[in-house]
Amino acid sequence: MSAAAVVLAAGKGTRFVSGRAKVLHRIAGRSMLGWVLDALGELPLDRIVVVVGHQADEVRAEAEAAGPERLTVVEQAEQRGTGHAVRTALEGGGVGDADTILVVPGDTPLLRPEPLAELLSVAADHAASMLTTHLDDPTGYGRVVRDGDGMVSRVVEHGDATEAERRVTEVATSVYAFDRESLAQEVSRLPTGNAQGEEYLTDVIEPLATAAQEAGDGSAHKRRGVAGVAAAPGVVAGVNDRVELADAGKLLRRRILEELMRSGVSVVDPDTTYVDATVRMEADATLLPGTHLEGACVVERDAVVGPDCRLADARVGEGARVAYSVVDRAVVGPGAHVGPYAYLRSGARLERGAKAGTFVEIKQSVIGEGSKVPHLSYVGDATLGRGVNIGAATVTVNYDGREKHQTVIEDGAFIGSDTMLVAPIRVGAEGYTGAGSVITSDVPDGALAVERSEQRTVHGYAERKRRRK
Ligand code: UD1
Ligand code: CA
Repeated sequence: MSAAAVVLAAGKGTRFVSGRAKVLHRIAGRSMLGWVLDALGELPLDRIVVVVGHQADEVRAEAEAAGPERLTVVEQAEQRGTGHAVRTALEGGGVGDADTILVVPGDTPLLRPEPLAELLSVAADHAASMLTTHLDDPTGYGRVVRDGDGMVSRVVEHGDATEAERRVTEVATSVYAFDRESLAQEVSRLPTGNAQGEEYLTDVIEPLATAAQEAGDGSAHKRRGVAGVAAAPGVVAGVNDRVELADAGKLLRRRILEELMRSGVSVVDPDTTYVDATVRMEADATLLPGTHLEGACVVERDAVVGPDCRLADARVGEGARVAYSVVDRAVVGPGAHVGPYAYLRSGARLERGAKAGTFVEIKQSVIGEGSKVPHLSYVGDATLGRGVNIGAATVTVNYDGREKHQTVIEDGAFIGSDTMLVAPIRVGAEGYTGAGSVITSDVPDGALAVERSEQRTVHGYAERKRRRK
């Protein structure tokens, strides 16, 4: 048996009330379409065809970015229903010569490879097999009608169902495995006399089920009948609006965290920890409550992140510590300390054992090994050597209103509190600046630069003031 998958992703997703196509909406760092393609990537499929239509260019780009190899994209110019979408995919030729066609909707981010593999294993013996699930409230879904032998005899859409049929709680998930020839034949003659005037994919089920009864007497369908494989809603449920998006998000985040915990990461409170699917973590790292890790974050062993942090595309080295801080496209070296209340922006890099402390903002700068920026400072466009100490409230004055300029502070320099370093500027190795100085010319190695007026002390001032009154 050779199988190809068709992913239905041409619809608009009206119930999302969004300017963006539904399948592009993201959960834990991945689009819904990305989640589906990720699950498909784990199956032995010859080809994967994504049917695009609404916002075709964006959805195509997303499929190509997220998608595994063997991917083709077919455009369904007019969205005339799920059956029409499958017909478009078959006619587009992208399925190659596969004899089994797996159909998966692009709005099913919870889908796992396991139920799909089970479906494929049943597929060989039937004209079609379909994943179903039982819902307490099946409103809006296609209902699964089974015959006395437990085979599926048809699927009826909510809008077309009778009162009795609407009481059925087993619903179609829109995940199917079809015998390719049977499917091609049936999608080419779908009726449109239904509530939405569309070519419903669900309408191929009844003729394929009927063919089973006729089998043996020259039926056109080689494989027989329609099998229904029930799965838990948590691995097959579709997402039709933003409420369901949030529900699915909760399940997917939990899944990501469980995988991390099983691989040796401590997650103190999974309910308040948010980790994207794209994040990599090493064993013995710890996430404290209120932590968000987004995009291409990497957290190495023995690092502790949290509480209350947001890290995006950040790297946290072995044994580093980040608390109550934001780290965005920045690197925290091994054993480095960040926070509480620090903001590391793009291009900030703390080398081994460095520190960015309380109310410190750093961007596009290297803080050398063991160097410290402990309190209330802004460091931008700067390169700090090793063992540099930056006094509280120091600012690299990097912007003259038109351009950014560089600050260089060499090994072992000691910057006094409240120093303004007006860039471009260089402080040499073991150079000093006096507290409160506005430094505008380079400080040679080992020199002290002080820039402030001499202190005047008026003795008895308080007494004089009192007498004046
Ligand atoms: C569909 C099923 C329903 C099932 C439900 C499960 C049909 C007619 N109904 O209903 O039985 O219970 O899924 O979630 O199949 N799409 C296209 N082209 C189109 C129309 C849709 O590519 O012309 C895509 C959509 O982008 C979406 C998927 O097909 O990813 C399903 O379409 P949707 O409109 O969400 O179908 P439902 O109403 O949910
Ligand atoms: Ca749907």
